[in-house]
Amino acid sequence: MHIYKVKDYKELSRKAANIVSAQIILKPDSVLGLATGSTPIGIYKQLIEWYKKKDLDFNDVKSVNLDEYKGLSPENKQSYHYFMNENLFRHVNIKPENTNLPDGMADDALSECNRFNKVIEQLGGIDLQILGLGHNGHIGFNEPGDTFVKGTHCVALTKSTLEANARLFEAGETVPEYAFTMGIKTIMLAKKILLVVSGSDKAKILSEVLTGPITPQVPASILQMHTDFTVIADSQAAELIDEKNINEKF
Ligand code: GLP
Repeated sequence: MHIYKVKDYKELSRKAANIVSAQIILKPDSVLGLATGSTPIGIYKQLIEWYKKKDLDFNDVKSVNLDEYKGLSPENKQSYHYFMNENLFRHVNIKPENTNLPDGMADDALSECNRFNKVIEQLGGIDLQILGLGHNGHIGFNEPGDTFVKGTHCVALTKSTLEANARLFEAGETVPEYAFTMGIKTIMLAKKILLVVSGSDKAKILSEVLTGPITPQVPASILQMHTDFTVIADSQAAELIDEKNINEKF
């Protein structure tokens, strides 16, 4: 596990973007695992800037996203499709056919999960997965529970996630209660994982994720088992990490 504690959100975004950029330069046809939420926005802004300076080329890059709300179409401003188009895809030369998200409008949830699993498999898995962290320790939409779910599945969002996400919806808009998410096994099979965490409201959960027991009650705690796991946290989010408690023995 590599932990980078950085000063602020700006530094977090720049350092994470450097890692993503190195990945694309070293392997131009990388499969990037992308995340939504407010934390990765700064990374995408920086990548766009470097693309515009011709330092980065997305022509051969492929992407898969972690999750999508059930019931929202790509045109819906709250959908993760829309988010990705607005915050990254339409600003760089990634080919639309090389971008993949679960289809929020799929009628048959089970076959959509199977389809998405196959897409990832056919791409040969994920080279670098970017992750944000939910306040309850979720990654993608893998919510706390009794077991780790392996593949893509459709989940009922927890109260705390619904509340956290409600801030992004306008009055009158209903926050979807279900979502499709990549499973924990798929995330863990990514060759590299990059977790970005910002703000004091994530400090407690981040210390649990990194130094607490590995448990499906804190889904991100499984990342402790990954062999190429990097965390970038700003000083506020990193405040409670006690590195003495990070067990690297196993
Ligand atoms: C959402 C997303 C997650 C994201 C999390 C944290 O629930 N499904 O993938 O990591 O929110 O988002 P933020 O970065 O806005 O705190």
